[in-house]
Amino acid sequence: MANLNVKINDLELKNPVMTASGTFGYGLEFADFVPLNEIGGIIVKGTTLEPRQGNDYPRLAETAQGMLNCVGLQNKGVDYFCENIYPQIQNIDTNMIVNVSGNSPETYAACAEKIATLDKIPAIEVNISCPNVKSGGMAFGVTCEGAASVVKAVRKVYHKTMIVKLSPNVTNIADIARACEAEGADSVSLINTLMGMAVDIEKRKPMLSIRTGGLSGPAVKPVALRMVYDVAHAVKIPVVGLGGISNAKDAIEFLMCGATAIEIGTANFIDPAVTKKVKDGINDWLEAHGVKDVNEIIGAIQ
Ligand SMILES: Cc1cc2nc3c(=O)[nH]c(=O)nc-3n(C[C@H](O)[C@H](O)[C@H](O)COP(=O)(O)O)c2cc1C
Repeated sequence: MANLNVKINDLELKNPVMTASGTFGYGLEFADFVPLNEIGGIIVKGTTLEPRQGNDYPRLAETAQGMLNCVGLQNKGVDYFCENIYPQIQNIDTNMIVNVSGNSPETYAACAEKIATLDKIPAIEVNISCPNVKSGGMAFGVTCEGAASVVKAVRKVYHKTMIVKLSPNVTNIADIARACEAEGADSVSLINTLMGMAVDIEKRKPMLSIRTGGLSGPAVKPVALRMVYDVAHAVKIPVVGLGGISNAKDAIEFLMCGATAIEIGTANFIDPAVTKKVKDGINDWLEAHGVKDVNEIIGAIQ
């Protein structure tokens, strides 16, 4: 076995493979398909201060090499999470990370503060990039000022590892990453979904209830790789890469572009055991190439 351990600030991952929020439930739903303790980290569903119903249906549309979704952060709120979900997931033997969202810096911080009280949650991922909600979400992730305001508010109350999830729907993602780093983010993850649209020509209507949705899956990988490369060269904090990863080769591309860890999203819907296969595949590649430690390939592309 090659060494697969990586670190994001103080957060130690047994391997660089994590699950992307919104695509792996709370982990428990996948326990029959994949050994959860072999995943480096599980980033659970987006959580907000108040419960959210999400958007009307239809919320999903298939596209060439990907999918569009406009789920809209449906969840039962942070109090429900703390009381009902946390007791069920706290003993899963990996890093359980909560994805936090809000509609103002204050609601992000209030949600993060509640999560901070949970001993077995070592980190949060702050989602400033959801394209599918009317207020908040991506609005914060598309300007340096908006991103900074959320990171600053959360940093005041949250002292464990804070990963900030960035939007690709911007002109210069490296500037947004630098703004997050300046306010004390421990890491940035990217990319969230790219805004897109699909049309039903028979009905002469958009496929999705709110017209637009977020594009994910293999179609977005080249865009995500380019952004990870740009951001990894713009900040000193560790970068988490995602967008279209569905096998070990994809994951290694992200690591070489500068990601310390990666997340897998849409591919979980196609193969619920993909995370373990990617982890094993990274190890196989390292062994086949005589590389003893995964950290040696991180940022290999200058
Ligand atoms: C159905 C669905 C729900 C999602 N929900 C969330 C969410 O709650 N929070 C979040 O930060 N990202 C969410 N995302 C975005 C993914 O975590 C990920 O950033 C994106 O899908 C790109 O990765 P992929 O191509 O591997 O899927 C969601 C994506 C999908 C497809």
